[in-house]
Amino acid sequence: MPATLVPGSYILAGLCFILALAGLSKHETAKRGNLFGMIGMGLALVFAILGTVLKTVSGGVPITTGGPSWAIIAILVAMVIGAGVGVFMAVRVEMTGMPQLIALLHSFVGLTAVLVGWNAYLEVPDPGAPGMGLHNGELFIGVFIGAVTFTGSIIAYLKLSAKMSSKPLMLPHHNIINLAALVVIIGLTVWFVLDPHLWQLIVMTIVSLALGLHLVASIGGGDMPVVVSMLNSYSGWAADAAGFTLDNNLLIITGALVGSSGAYLSFIMCKAMNRSFISVIAGGFGSDGAVTGEEKDYGEYHETNAADVASMLKNASSVVITPGYGMAVAQAQNAVADLTAKLRAKGVEVRFGIHPVAGRLPGHMNVLLAEAKVPYDIVLEMDEINDDFANTDVVLVIGANDTVNPAAMDDPSSPIAGMPVLEVWNANTVVVFKRSMNTGYAGVQNPLFFKDNTLMLFGDAKERVEDIIKAL
Ligand code: TAP
Repeated sequence: MPATLVPGSYILAGLCFILALAGLSKHETAKRGNLFGMIGMGLALVFAILGTVLKTVSGGVPITTGGPSWAIIAILVAMVIGAGVGVFMAVRVEMTGMPQLIALLHSFVGLTAVLVGWNAYLEVPDPGAPGMGLHNGELFIGVFIGAVTFTGSIIAYLKLSAKMSSKPLMLPHHNIINLAALVVIIGLTVWFVLDPHLWQLIVMTIVSLALGLHLVASIGGGDMPVVVSMLNSYSGWAADAAGFTLDNNLLIITGALVGSSGAYLSFIMCKAMNRSFISVIAGGFGSDGAVTGEEKDYGEYHETNAADVASMLKNASSVVITPGYGMAVAQAQNAVADLTAKLRAKGVEVRFGIHPVAGRLPGHMNVLLAEAKVPYDIVLEMDEINDDFANTDVVLVIGANDTVNPAAMDDPSSPIAGMPVLEVWNANTVVVFKRSMNTGYAGVQNPLFFKDNTLMLFGDAKERVEDIIKAL
């Protein structure tokens, strides 16, 4: 087998990953992007294993004596089990459960980087030998990033799946705690490079695990989308560090692609939510974590029914639909698409206003609406629609809450203060579809529900939309 085959396949796999990222940037090309990603990963897996076998058989220590190597058999068995579990989870997961699944997968990358780093230390007979400084530095940093990613992702998983409160944990002096942990880790890194000992690796791993846990626990629910993409970036850098330790170029390329694209996505999301990037990566730096508005008396809300909403829609000339997480929970997208088609057939102008973090993952609403065949040209971004609400007769808020909360603009003490929102209250009438007066993801009350021009339509969003279609 030519020696260039493995490096050549790595270049091909790297190109597939770049094409995958390019494809995923638009929903028209997203399926193709996914396909490229799968081909790239398939190539990477096959040739990484082949490369290990070749290295072992040709130059290094032969791990086989005649029959198939136990190490290769162990890898193949692990791959079959891992692939089986992966397929099982992917088939079962609901669209609404994707962010927590992604967070869990990031934790695996982090744990892998920790194990690779530890192994790289333990397998070397004399880590203190001259010339080992760079190797030691690489593995130490790899373990640090991996450990932060591991515990951070577990906490993100617990928060996103509501197994833990989404409210920020605000320990006294939390910023000083983070800073002190960072100083300890930097000090230990320098020491370890100069004079490595096992205890330094143990202490640093424990401090890094605690830091990851504390950083993500300190972040409030509203900032979770940024945290997920930031952990995605961290998992990329953790893989990158493992690539250096294992001397695997493809892992270095892939890690850098994931790390930089995740960091850029986090930056874009921070801009969309008017959050400081530094504040979010530093674990809620600058926020006191106060959750306000719970005790405040907002007055009375007004309830409506499907028949009244139907007659309101019949008489409207312009309607804007702002979907949120509740539309995904109710799986109401097809009913919403039917309602849209019916209204458009009656000459009503219907458009959609999509908040950048509506739902539980970037582009969540766009995917659901595309699946229900809602035409792309009536689906507008928040910035494109916000000025038009003042000229809109009826806004249907379908299962959205935080993304239409005026407190983000009016209440500087609100945990979501400063986040740009869909200014639906400027419309003539707003109808809110939800099941109760419960809060949304960020856990804050929404003054929109108590405004004079807001009507609450309680019940499951899909059932209520179907009732309206019947009444039309
Ligand atoms: P949320 O603020 O989460 O509100 C969703 C609303 O849907 C809830 O108030 C809920 O009220 C209602 N709902 C749930 N099931 C329903 C059903 N079957 N029928 C009708 N209504 C239902 O949603 P949003 O406005 O889309 O905001 C998204 C939030 O998630 C933001 O805080 C965002 O920061 C966060 N987040 C976003 C992402 C990304 S990347 N998009 C990732 C993680 C977190 P009831 O319980 O009363 O029905």
